[in-house]
Amino acid sequence: MASLNQSLQRTTMNENVKYVLDESRLPKCWYNIVADLFVPPPPALHPVTHQPLGPDDLKPLFPDALIAQEVSAEREIEIPAPVRDIYRQWRPSPLYRARRLEQALDTPARIYYKYEGVSPAGSHKPNTAVPQAFYNKEAGVARIATETGAGQWGSSLAFAGALFGIEVQVFMVRVSFQQKPYRRALMETWGAACTASPSNQTAAGRAILASRPDHPGSLGIAISEAVEVAAQRDDTKYALGSVLNHVLLHQTVVGQEAIAQMELADDYPDIIVGCTGGGSNFAGIAFPFLGEQLRGGRSVRIVAVEPSACPTLTRGRYAYDYGDTAHLTPLTKMHTLGSSFTPPGFHAGGLRYHGMAPLVSHVQQLGLIEARGYPQLACFEAGVLLARTEGILPAPEANHAVRGAIDEALRCKQEGVSRAILFNLCGHGHFDMQAYMDYFAGKLTDQSYDEGELAMALAGLPSVTSV
Ligand SMILES: Cc1ncc(COP(=O)(O)O)c(C=O)c1O
Repeated sequence: MASLNQSLQRTTMNENVKYVLDESRLPKCWYNIVADLFVPPPPALHPVTHQPLGPDDLKPLFPDALIAQEVSAEREIEIPAPVRDIYRQWRPSPLYRARRLEQALDTPARIYYKYEGVSPAGSHKPNTAVPQAFYNKEAGVARIATETGAGQWGSSLAFAGALFGIEVQVFMVRVSFQQKPYRRALMETWGAACTASPSNQTAAGRAILASRPDHPGSLGIAISEAVEVAAQRDDTKYALGSVLNHVLLHQTVVGQEAIAQMELADDYPDIIVGCTGGGSNFAGIAFPFLGEQLRGGRSVRIVAVEPSACPTLTRGRYAYDYGDTAHLTPLTKMHTLGSSFTPPGFHAGGLRYHGMAPLVSHVQQLGLIEARGYPQLACFEAGVLLARTEGILPAPEANHAVRGAIDEALRCKQEGVSRAILFNLCGHGHFDMQAYMDYFAGKLTDQSYDEGELAMALAGLPSVTSV
């Protein structure tokens, strides 16, 4: 670790506020961390037989190219030229040094953030929506069904569908559907259809509504609805905005660019912070750095930040579980709160998922990352401070990363140490103003989950003995 003196020297060596790469520096490949892990991740299992899943089992849901990426152990997977062409519209995204935030905190820490809110949909989600739409188009798919929590993923796939001429149907978690009418309007502007979930359009949705007509919805339920549609219609495939290996893979453009940008800054992160819903933006920024560490490079502390009201990594069990509520998806080994768990309706809708990416769970099990949970008020407080210093208004999900980074910077102040902290500012909050209005009106509370419901959901975990 650099001494305070070295760090201060470095600080004065480069006074830039933003580090921008030319389009020619856009990564040519996605980075697959599986190639560098010293213990391979456990296999996904068939939901009925509990045997390791074969590529054929996924064919009803995904095109072959994405299935191949899902199970690949190659370190680098080439980004197709048409995908890079579209990425060029907003990539490489900027990396900023948060100098005014540092001043406001009066911290010796050097805070950097990678800003993914510059994409058309306003977050990191198009990094995977575009390749997913591309591979579906190549396979002749006419229609894709998906879920969305915050609306960021649904809008991103709507955008990508518009570019490739693919029809998109989005099941949007009901509580977010009500909180964010303009996200729905954005999806419709790009030509997608958006339905509140649980809905009457699927058997999974109807079953939930029959037992609780005012159900607020959850990502697990919305996934069941989208998977059901894809499995039943020959013209429709399914797309997921997080969790799966190929989604995390696509997001690694973020971290690869950040490595080059930190070089421009003549610095290297001591700490990387990302928020975790399904794990994709976190993996996107962290895995390329973790890969360097695993191949003998500098070690870095990596912190995943989640809502304490949906504490998957900090309170969940590491076990095989379904990715959805109706148990239509394969079983994956992950940190899970149980597939029937419904978190309270806090505003970071993208973080209200019962599970975690198997790869993120795996690296946590290997001791390569840490996890921390925060209540929503502390996160909004951090987001408002970022807006008032750096000018960018973060998405409520991204506020969790901001909170985590600020707390690390305050720790630097307490200890009198300068560390480089890099966080992923994974999206802007321009469609989340109701949440900010509620925050300023004092209407937001730190909702807690129901311990009894969590215990019940965990008791319902499938028993898997064959692996
Ligand atoms: C802005 C934003 N950040 C984070 C997330 C969480 O997803 P992930 O953990 O896959 O990045 C979402 C999900 O919708 C989101 O919209």
